[in-house]
Amino acid sequence: MPRFSKAVSSLRSSEIRDLMTLASRPDVISFAGGMPGNDLFPVRDVEALFAQLDIRKKQAAFQYGPTPGLPSLLESLQGFLEKKGLPVHENRLLITTGSLQAISLLARAFIDPGDPVLVENPCFIGALSAFKSCGADLRGINVDSEGIAADELDDEVRRMPKAKFLYVTPYFHNPAGLLYSTERKERLIGSLRGRDIPLIEDDAYGDLYFHQEDALRLKPMKAINPEGIDICYTGSFSKILGPGLRLGWMLAPEEIYGKCELIKQSADACSSSYTQVLADEFIRSGLIYPYIEKVRQEYRSRAAGMLAALKRHMPGYVKWNEPRGGFYFWLTLPEGTDSTEILKLSIESGAVFVAGKTFDPAGKKNDTMRLSYCNNSAAEIDEGIPVIAEAVRKVCG
Ligand SMILES: Cc1ncc(COP(=O)(O)O)c(C=O)c1O
Repeated sequence: MPRFSKAVSSLRSSEIRDLMTLASRPDVISFAGGMPGNDLFPVRDVEALFAQLDIRKKQAAFQYGPTPGLPSLLESLQGFLEKKGLPVHENRLLITTGSLQAISLLARAFIDPGDPVLVENPCFIGALSAFKSCGADLRGINVDSEGIAADELDDEVRRMPKAKFLYVTPYFHNPAGLLYSTERKERLIGSLRGRDIPLIEDDAYGDLYFHQEDALRLKPMKAINPEGIDICYTGSFSKILGPGLRLGWMLAPEEIYGKCELIKQSADACSSSYTQVLADEFIRSGLIYPYIEKVRQEYRSRAAGMLAALKRHMPGYVKWNEPRGGFYFWLTLPEGTDSTEILKLSIESGAVFVAGKTFDPAGKKNDTMRLSYCNNSAAEIDEGIPVIAEAVRKVCG
């Protein structure tokens, strides 16, 4: 028997993941993945950008690069982040292999087995897995329509032993779809200030807003730059260019950055130079801005299509958020419903989603489900939602 570490021994492939393998049949309509629309990738633009590079730049793209990232991308990305008001000059920027690597590096930098870590409930499954694989004792804090529950957070930050950090996704949350209110961000900042509990602020979806008037709500806490909290801000090219590039970033205070850079040296030495060159050219050409605008409009229209279908087909006892950006609807079923039962019936009839317990830090609460609209045509949405609604009726009545 291989003698695995304690932290890794406790990791299991979930029942949901096994069901998902069944769901990969080509005739099944999938609302499960958090994947950008394949049809939206800027393939031709990026091909043309690479083709016009001189041979030395092309060769460098095939070479190893510095661990923190290619200097040219660090510079262009700084410009991109500065437009969001982020304090790029008082912090250090690290290019990572997807923003999930940034989250994993931070997990490894902070967590010893048994250490408490504060997360939202529900929470992005990738982050939960990263923290669990380091042996974290996950403490889930509920979210409501405004953000993380402020009183619960106050209790948790006072609890001993002290949590190693708080991880949140305030901008078009995965899976809850919610956008934090400005007041809730201020409360969160107040709760953490001076407590020596760093904040990981995950902004993987913030660029995908549907309403210009949300600009103020989208201002990162890192950009507010509050005194007395170490904020590690993570972001990604996955939703604004393509996840296949596997490129993300972390903007963090010098000391935390230093540890993460050291860990990255042993993780993968550097992120792909090839895709860093592509991302750099995409920013420098200016093409990134109209592209983001285009995908925003497209996701907005897909979300509207799913909203209309949900209203038309779901029984009245099913509740959901109305997304103001991002990829997800989060549906709440009558208390105690087992959404895995709904999932099984739904897969049989040809549509798939993700059952809620996947995102519960304790892996239990299952009267919720996540539906994404990002990679579906209007026709698929109109065909697939009635299938899921029918399965809901069969299980809940
Ligand atoms: C909330 C959140 N953070 C981070 C990521 C990781 O993305 P990537 O590693 O592709 O940058 C995802 C991916 O779905 C996500 O939903």
